[in-house]
Amino acid sequence: MQRLVIEGDTKISGEIKVQGAKNSALPLLAATILGKTGSVLHNCPMLSDVFAACRILSYLGCKCVREGDSVIVDTANLTHFEVPDELMREMRSSIVFLGAILGRLGRCRLSFPGGCELGPRPIDMHISSLKQMGVIIKEEHGFLDCSIPKELKGAAISLSFPSVGATENIMLAAVLANGDTEIRNAAREPEIMDLADFLNACGAKISGQGGSTIYITGVKELGGCEYSVMPDRIVAATYMGAAAITNGELSLQQIRPRDLDAVTPIFEEMGCSVYPYADRIFINAKRPLKAVKTIRTMPYPGFPTDVQAIIMACLCKARGTSVIVENIFENRFKHAGELRRMGADIKIESKVAVIEGVPKLYGAQVQATDLRGGAALVLAALSAEGVTSISEIKHIDRGYEFIENSFNKIGAKIKRV
Ligand code: EPZ
Repeated sequence: MQRLVIEGDTKISGEIKVQGAKNSALPLLAATILGKTGSVLHNCPMLSDVFAACRILSYLGCKCVREGDSVIVDTANLTHFEVPDELMREMRSSIVFLGAILGRLGRCRLSFPGGCELGPRPIDMHISSLKQMGVIIKEEHGFLDCSIPKELKGAAISLSFPSVGATENIMLAAVLANGDTEIRNAAREPEIMDLADFLNACGAKISGQGGSTIYITGVKELGGCEYSVMPDRIVAATYMGAAAITNGELSLQQIRPRDLDAVTPIFEEMGCSVYPYADRIFINAKRPLKAVKTIRTMPYPGFPTDVQAIIMACLCKARGTSVIVENIFENRFKHAGELRRMGADIKIESKVAVIEGVPKLYGAQVQATDLRGGAALVLAALSAEGVTSISEIKHIDRGYEFIENSFNKIGAKIKRV
């Protein structure tokens, strides 16, 4: 089992290019199958989740080739409409293939995605929305068997919660459906806009993306296109957290500062100076960190739940008491126990975490509990006294491209052993 061994007392500095976004690359890879001709995705990150998505595409009959940071997908011959259980289990977000396979083939069979480290992850909104579009869904023996007796038809769908995954699945099914679809209370994340822009470049008719109502007029067929995956705003926030917790300074390249509008003020409240430019952000965190009264995770444009663990690690070293309220996932404080092993003072009461800043963290043997929780431990280790060893790093590899190489470029001393 690989581990990361991290020397502490590091000061992060320099400049770093931000990778393509995992949470955009995955739905974009699924979306490629809607086009009769292939697509090329540039700036596509090298992540275990992306490899898992490519394995699903290959299983479905696509030719999937990586050339540097580009993935070329030939979708001419789809031979399968089902995704085997073992491929579904590798990555929970394989569920977005449902809308795309239904849109292209009118039939889909895949296993029910279970829960994950973050708690139960129901897909009731995905299912009820697709049923409104004329899909018959049979749930049997852990599988979803989906078929379209007549045709996929447009529908006016109101989501009870702006679910990212449900919004993506409806968009993927609706672009080739007969008629108009309206998604009310849709997710507004930048990744939703990236998916809409990709589909429109393939010939779809989508508007309203980024707002809470998305409009889609179904078309007869889609082509392919060349598209560049948006930068990863969560990875960018992770780099900003590394500069903050080590009182360093950093220039982030190839990022869209507006995607971090809900995150930047929190770094400023902690006492960092943040300078956004067209496609760069400079952060100076030379002053000691200050506590932040209350942070509540919310759907976009609110504070992202995916940055919660990163900020919690920083607040462990901030002067004063901070409060974090996790509103999106039931079980997303597992990293707190590992941070406590490093000397942090964190109390958890259901979805509320109270963090008392401490002057020092100490190197320890810890375990990554999930993707972002793992990244938080890397940050804590960079600022700790002594050496930290992190196990279960498969979680981290799902979302960060060779994390040790990236951080060692900006002053860290990390080894993968
Ligand atoms: C996406 O997950 C991201 N994953 C997550 O990032 C992110 O945390 C999440 O959106 C919220 O921003 C990808 O894009 C691959 P949701 P998703 O559907 O689509 C409940 C990371 O670290 N819900 O918006 O699964 C659900 O249980 C990952 O990169 C239902 O109840 O998120 C959750 O509590 C982790 N029924 C909430 O809504 C449904 O049918 C938000 O889920 C669907 C969702």
